[in-house]
Amino acid sequence: MERRIIGRMHPVISIKGLTKTYAGGFEALKSVDLDIRRGEIFGLLGPNGAGKTTLINIVCGIVNPSGGTVHVDGYDIVSEFRRTRSRIGLVPQELPTDTFETVVNTLRFSRGMFGKGPDEAHIEHVLKILSLWDKKDSPIMALSGGMKRRVLIAKALSHEPDVLFLDEPTAGVDVELRQDMWNAVELLRSQGVTVILTTHYIEEAEQLADRVGVINHGEIILVEEKNKLMRDLGKKQLMLHLYEELETVPDSLSRFALELSEDGRELTYHYDTRGEHTGITDLIHDLRGAGIRFNDLQTEQSSLEEIFVDLVNKDR
Ligand SMILES: Nc1ncnc2c1ncn2[C@@H]1O[C@H](COP(=O)(O)OP(=O)(O)OP(=O)(O)O)[C@@H](O)[C@H]1O
Ligand SMILES: [Mg+2]
Repeated sequence: MERRIIGRMHPVISIKGLTKTYAGGFEALKSVDLDIRRGEIFGLLGPNGAGKTTLINIVCGIVNPSGGTVHVDGYDIVSEFRRTRSRIGLVPQELPTDTFETVVNTLRFSRGMFGKGPDEAHIEHVLKILSLWDKKDSPIMALSGGMKRRVLIAKALSHEPDVLFLDEPTAGVDVELRQDMWNAVELLRSQGVTVILTTHYIEEAEQLADRVGVINHGEIILVEEKNKLMRDLGKKQLMLHLYEELETVPDSLSRFALELSEDGRELTYHYDTRGEHTGITDLIHDLRGAGIRFNDLQTEQSSLEEIFVDLVNKDR
């Protein structure tokens, strides 16, 4: 009998040494270790084919692991599958085929599948969160693509899971609906649901996630608090538009490692936001000393997108 490891402080999902080799020999996951904290929103980022869906599908029992373990709430996903699966809601990446079934019946049925008794109040609540209440009696096939996606989320929530996986929830969804979904995710978080989402819209992770994990070629290359990640890796830069063209950066300014644009009209200075001082005052002082004048200055901080591209490229 599997011993159950549990407690408020324990991760809601604990993945250890997880590997997956598909039939044919492709290694989609190479010893993944990952803990998901109770109540957090975790953004799993990675390029196409990195292994995100494979990882999610293993936790949800759709794909068999080749090695390693996964515990959900302290229960092993293989030996206690029914127990772990009922705690999880999954919104899959692929939209399933259309049905004539109505929205509300789809939710009722899904709830029953996980062994939960009827609860119309809960179903109403979920449909309202996702702005589907007025569509509750529509057949699914009569809904738009974005609405179908929302139905999938509602369905995944019908059995009151503690953990919700959203695999590319907003792919092909318009801006307004995307914002609605983000609000729904925030609301779920406030109700204590743990959310793990994969996305190609880095902006989505930037907006929602408490922590971010980056996966590439089947390996987790980084897991970090989003804010810390952006603070540590979010380089700031100062751009100076020069009054007169400059051919080269004078030696007296070499310690600032300035970049001169090709047209000689712009100098870029990278500085560290963690440092005691940024060096900007020194820079401006020394520029004046070198007789370089500028007529405009601008600062910019790198986005999560730039950080992500940087990380994934380094790992190539
Ligand atoms: N059933 C399968 N049989 C063989 N190889 C597979 C199978 N499913 C996935 N793969 C391979 O495993 C790798 C990881 O696929 P996965 O779907 O997990 O990636 P992903 O990170 O979700 O990508 P995307 O961002 O495109 O959704 C890919 O190279 C894929 O071709
Ligand atoms: Mg995928």
